[in-house]
Amino acid sequence: MLDVSDVMLTGRRALVTGAGQGIGEGIALGLASFGADVAVLDINEQTAERTAARVRELGHESTAICVDVRASASLESALEQASEELGGLDIIVNNAGTATHKPAIQFDDSEFDEQIALNLKPSFVAARWAAKRWIAAGSGGSIVNVATTEGIRGCPGFAPYSAAKAGMINLTKTLSSELGPYGIRVNAIAPDYTPTPGLGHIDLEGQTPEEMMSGMTRFIPLRRLGTPDDMAGAVIFLCSGLASWVSGQTLVIDGGALPCARVEGPLPFPSLRP
Ligand SMILES: NC(=O)c1ccc[n+]([C@@H]2O[C@H](COP(=O)([O-])OP(=O)(O)OC[C@H]3O[C@@H](n4cnc5c(N)ncnc54)[C@H](O)[C@@H]3O)[C@@H](O)[C@H]2O)c1
Repeated sequence: MLDVSDVMLTGRRALVTGAGQGIGEGIALGLASFGADVAVLDINEQTAERTAARVRELGHESTAICVDVRASASLESALEQASEELGGLDIIVNNAGTATHKPAIQFDDSEFDEQIALNLKPSFVAARWAAKRWIAAGSGGSIVNVATTEGIRGCPGFAPYSAAKAGMINLTKTLSSELGPYGIRVNAIAPDYTPTPGLGHIDLEGQTPEEMMSGMTRFIPLRRLGTPDDMAGAVIFLCSGLASWVSGQTLVIDGGALPCARVEGPLPFPSLRP
């Protein structure tokens, strides 16, 4: 029978990339709230330190490591350092990523390669590093990749980003099939419509991120945008004992938008309101 403790991550040691702000910060704090020690990796040393301090305020061990996840050797060194400082790692969350927005035919080769280098390859490098150690130790482990709904459907303006995240979703499936026999679960989440500082980098053709995002709510059945906590909840579930037979999945966290036709305007059946 399930016990409430199955949802807790007490004593687990997690690592989250891109955890200095936004969704990654929310995931790091969520994992800590449910009992995990958390290594915070980010290219921005200051924000990484800030998140690590917040994890410690929650009563858990943390270390902040400044790293560019696009550099495989640096990422592997950071994983090694985090493992040494926390006494091992049980959970890896590959979250660092960002999108460049413009018409597909305007991307040159180096820009395309850059999106793959940031949004796809580090999740492979981190999984390879962790799986080798977890297999040798016979410990099992859990990997969660932060993809996007744009990796499931096409999305104008995000060609290389969407392709990279689609690759991440397929990598999640393949790794889950290869690593499952060793007790290693590999899953992904696919967020959508979540205001974070990172959206400020996207060219929105004159709209502010807030204007763009609020225009989106009319397409979302649950009629609000996502939050980092929404994403953290899904990651906690996937890393917990409640998901011990869940692997290879991509859990869409989007207020119900992806499964539905894009119907604008007021509720389709106002008379359903009492
Ligand atoms: N916000 C959304 O609406 C949304 C939707 C779908 C998917 N996502 C995904 O969620 C993840 C987090 O997005 P966010 O909106 O919180 O972004 P964000 O830009 O607010 O945060 C990203 C973090 O990653 C770090 N980072 C960037 N490049 C890095 C690198 N090379 N090495 C190490 N760290 C690096 C940044 O410093 C930052 O702290 C991304 O993978 C993104 O694709 C976001």
